[in-house]
Amino acid sequence: MFIDPRLYAIKRRLAVFRLIVPIVSPKGGVGKSVIAAALSLSLALKGVRVGLLDLDITNPCSHLLLGIDVETTKPIEDRGIRPVKLGSTELEFMSIAFYSGNKTLPLRGTDIDNAIKEVLSITQWSASLLIIDTPPGFSDEVLDIISLAPNPRPIIVTTPSVLSIETVKRSLEVLSNEGVKPLGLIVNLSHSVDLCLQISQVLSLELLACIPWLTNLEKAVGKPLALKDLLEPYMTKAIETILRIVER
Ligand SMILES: Nc1ncnc2c1ncn2[C@@H]1O[C@H](COP(=O)(O)OP(=O)(O)O)[C@@H](O)[C@H]1O
Ligand SMILES: [Mg+2]
Repeated sequence: MFIDPRLYAIKRRLAVFRLIVPIVSPKGGVGKSVIAAALSLSLALKGVRVGLLDLDITNPCSHLLLGIDVETTKPIEDRGIRPVKLGSTELEFMSIAFYSGNKTLPLRGTDIDNAIKEVLSITQWSASLLIIDTPPGFSDEVLDIISLAPNPRPIIVTTPSVLSIETVKRSLEVLSNEGVKPLGLIVNLSHSVDLCLQISQVLSLELLACIPWLTNLEKAVGKPLALKDLLEPYMTKAIETILRIVER
């Protein structure tokens, strides 16, 4: 039997976190990356030691939202890799983009699995909360992190679209079969709080945020503080829920 030594390293590296929150959705373009970046910043600026990991291995883009130039900024090697600290905040950030640059990585299943295991086994976090931006769907990236992380508590993201809600329903079954309990639901691109509440009831998930279409969002891409300021007013429940767990 082949035993992958990285699995032991990953277990040790992830054991430092009090809470691991993958931001997941079966659909793309629903706001996972935007939410992961803004939520991480809000919590970091409230004094939580936060790590943000971009696990969208083939198309990472969290660095674009945070305004980090992956060509000039690189993690420091020191018995592994130390994540990059974002400007004046204590936010720790790690992404495959530091190594692939601003290019699409055309990887297949086993290669994606290997890239994830490599990143997880070498990254030396010192945060207590890990937020993970994931690619759409429940393929290798999400399944890997769910099986490798101790007690992951995903936040599910949906829009009010029927297609998105229906695919979330199916994904919840996958999570439940894996014994994973979501932290709650964020409904993005909805102007009606009533509608957000209805969706959360249909899905039997706690509503952590209901975010409308934000006309200024595009201008805030690459400006982390502006991005945080735009989304934070809608994410108080999500922030409080996470604070309660990490400060317990
Ligand atoms: N609430 C919002 N208001 C306006 N634009 C948004 C909002 N949420 C996401 N977007 C935009 O929609 C696009 C997809 O968002 P993204 O976070 O990349 O989705 P995902 O990571 O789920 O694929 C991006 O261009 C983003 O700027
Ligand atoms: Mg994304």
